Amino acid sequence: MYTLGGMARPAARRVLVLHGPNLNLLGTREPTIYGRTTLAQLDLLIQRHATSRGAEAVCRQSNHEGQLIDWVQAATREGFGAIVMNPGALTHYSLALRDAVSAVSVPVVEVHLSNIHGREEFRRHSVIAAAARGQIAGFGPASYLLGVDAALQSVLPGRPPSRRPR
Ligand code: DQA
Repeated sequence: MYTLGGMARPAARRVLVLHGPNLNLLGTREPTIYGRTTLAQLDLLIQRHATSRGAEAVCRQSNHEGQLIDWVQAATREGFGAIVMNPGALTHYSLALRDAVSAVSVPVVEVHLSNIHGREEFRRHSVIAAAARGQIAGFGPASYLLGVDAALQSVLPGRPPSRRPR
């Protein structure tokens, strides 16, 4: 249990949202692809959505692979029941991040703003996806909101036991 504003929240309702490299530039970065929503605005949308679901979202961004790996490894210890992660370009080549996702029991939902499967060839493959619970791509900021719903569905009681695809 973690206490937030006087209310205890079980880990199942605490979601860690991780944004990878270059997502700090949202709003000005290739707006025709990623839109004009800034990272701060996106985090607010995510947090409000989680609150509307009776949950809490904590959002973090890093341009550094090792920092993202450290956050994935520490998620359970920090009291999170699930992770929603947009690994940015690390999606396509970071075996270290994939191994971190594989190493932890906390479910990870991979999300992307753009539809990576309809873009350049190198973006069509995710090395993370097979280790994640699932992937949501192509819905802009809504990908994260759907990701939060999917993450909560994976961990809340009464839901089917979570199994990572192999
Ligand atoms: C992205 C897609 C990646 O290919 C790209 O490197 C990103 C953003 C997305 O959200 O659509 O940084 O993950």
